[in-house]
Amino acid sequence: MKLVTNKQNLQGTLVIPADKSISHRSIMFGAMAHGTTTIHNFLRGEDCLSTLNAFKTLGVPIEDDGTVIRVYGQGLAALKPVDSPIDVGNSGTTIRLMMGILAGTDFTTVLTGDASLNKRPMARVMDPINQMNGAISGFEDTQFPPVTIKGQANLAPMTYEMPVASAQVKSAILFAALQAKGETVVIEKEPSRNHTEEMIRQFGGSIKVEGKNIHVKGPQTLKSQTVIVPGDISSAAFFLVAALLCKDSKIQLTNVGINPTRTGILEVIEAMGGTLELSQVDEINQSATITARSSELHGTTIGGAIIPRLIDELPIIALLATQANGQTIIRDAQELKVKETNRIDAVAKELTKMGASIKATDDGLIINGPTPLYGANVTSYGDHRIGMMLQIAALLVADGEVELEQAEAVSVSYPDFFTDLTKLLPGGAI
Ligand code: S3P
Repeated sequence: MKLVTNKQNLQGTLVIPADKSISHRSIMFGAMAHGTTTIHNFLRGEDCLSTLNAFKTLGVPIEDDGTVIRVYGQGLAALKPVDSPIDVGNSGTTIRLMMGILAGTDFTTVLTGDASLNKRPMARVMDPINQMNGAISGFEDTQFPPVTIKGQANLAPMTYEMPVASAQVKSAILFAALQAKGETVVIEKEPSRNHTEEMIRQFGGSIKVEGKNIHVKGPQTLKSQTVIVPGDISSAAFFLVAALLCKDSKIQLTNVGINPTRTGILEVIEAMGGTLELSQVDEINQSATITARSSELHGTTIGGAIIPRLIDELPIIALLATQANGQTIIRDAQELKVKETNRIDAVAKELTKMGASIKATDDGLIINGPTPLYGANVTSYGDHRIGMMLQIAALLVADGEVELEQAEAVSVSYPDFFTDLTKLLPGGAI
């Protein structure tokens, strides 16, 4: 994809597409529950469609009338075995959470993915679930997919101290805990996104959260619900940064999810001197309109407990830091190395090609700003968030022409990203 500089002021209002994490879980909870779950504003990106299709393949009736999605759940016992491996594409959330869901079935399932997913670590889920009497193995004695999940009737509860701060690992264990007989306690390393905990409650289950300790007593039966998915703050992040960086800009992003376990980026923008405003705050649905304006920015240090609360936003925060005055240090973010690509290396390498002063470290990045960016040949490495960050860099920050390889990766979470960006440019299409 050729991207020619089109620096403009950004203006207008955008409805941000639905949250990816909640969309995945809405299908999963709908399949586990009894009754008809109705999902409004489901994200029809490739990752969430992988989850939807996986459960359809397992025999769950799911209908999409183009507006709402209906999941006709009959509990986990109604899932049907599948002969061939289920391909979940690029989606780490699908494969990891399904390992927990399928751990207690009475059949064997094989889950596989694309080249990127099949290189991502699964021991972090396999090990704890196998400690619960699960029987999950990786490909040829490795920890990598395809993973084989031999369902076990007698999953056992456990107390588990998590070695990584990961909502995917936590969620997989909680799904297995809902099927195990007795109390499971998960102790988080740092609090990560809590959508699974919230949805266990929403679907009529019981869960107790005391600080970093999460208690679930199984087995539990869940009841179908209506789910209204808010916009994804991780998608909004790209436009927030774009507006901060472009002169004379003011944009409003509506219906953005503001669950506090996800809003680390808002705190970082504020710490860097950025101007943001929240309005129309809906406490019940945890959503708001966010207004962002062009701002004079300075560097900051990002590390510790905030990292899981902005883990997916770090690539676009790195771009923001290239234009801020002074040094930005990102630390404690080694988890970035095991995302859709090694995001520490990818961000450092591609932004260096465009002229940034950015250094990869063992657990993050050190960025010195501001530096002008210029045209270069760059790649997303097939990673949607690297692709969107590079599109913002190319169109709104850099001078000159950028050739972006594997631009299509954005469809994983935001198929209309380019069109939506265009809507905020008063000068029109790029
Ligand atoms: C997600 C959790 C995060 C995040 C991913 C979605 C989820 O992964 O990076 O995009 O929906 O639970 P980790 O739990 O591995 O950090």
